[in-house]
Amino acid sequence: MRQKLIAGNWKMNLTLAEAMVLANGVRNHLEDFERILVVLCPSTIWLTEIAHAGIGPKQLPHLKLGAQNVFNQESGAYTGETSILQIKEVVEFVIIGHSERTHIFKENPDLIATKVQASLDHGVIPILCIGEDQKEEGSVRNLVHRLNYLVKDLNQEELERLVLAYEPVWAIGTGNPATPEYAQEVIVALREVLTPVSRILYGGSVTEENAEGFLQHPDIDGFLIGGTSLKLKPFLQICEMAENLSEAK
Ligand code: PGA
Repeated sequence: MRQKLIAGNWKMNLTLAEAMVLANGVRNHLEDFERILVVLCPSTIWLTEIAHAGIGPKQLPHLKLGAQNVFNQESGAYTGETSILQIKEVVEFVIIGHSERTHIFKENPDLIATKVQASLDHGVIPILCIGEDQKEEGSVRNLVHRLNYLVKDLNQEELERLVLAYEPVWAIGTGNPATPEYAQEVIVALREVLTPVSRILYGGSVTEENAEGFLQHPDIDGFLIGGTSLKLKPFLQICEMAENLSEAK
């Protein structure tokens, strides 16, 4: 059975003090949770501080840290980048290929694929993002095609470890989420490219009000949440729903 995963993508938000309050708030409440996995993804600059506050690698079974990006090389002359060797000291997950990286920073599929490979090689689980810019005829087929390309060099075991986030770009930060039925349909198609045990999340305007509808669908294994993950109470409410909807082991 696939363990539900709720990831919070804090993007380029929060001061150190605010990030610590939010991380500690989540940690204090998660002690009650046993079934789901929660991944917090703060700005890279705060990762070390938050990891040292008790959320670092292998410290808590149900709460992990993730980075929002990583470079594919171990070290070298790459001004402004953070290497996979550096990142893995503080995180167990990393978001790769988010649409803000592809649209604003022009990351291309080959770069994204090498970042995924580098992360897997170093034991960091990639949360690979994929989503169509607009909902149109053939968009599901195009996504399947794109995913096939991104994971073409991964072996079966690597495909099993990978987490995919289906994030339609038109739904990100717009308050206009996909319907749960549509997300389920796309995710079923994407799963064909991966494996039955690979986790696939939905992302795009998830709130405490619409989360339950998605979690009712068998192929939606959790969320990648932006805006709502910056607010402790609604984020915890979503985690609680996922915990309650997960079967006891
Ligand atoms: P949103 O962002 O929840 O604010 O729509 C999701 C994301 O960008 O991962």
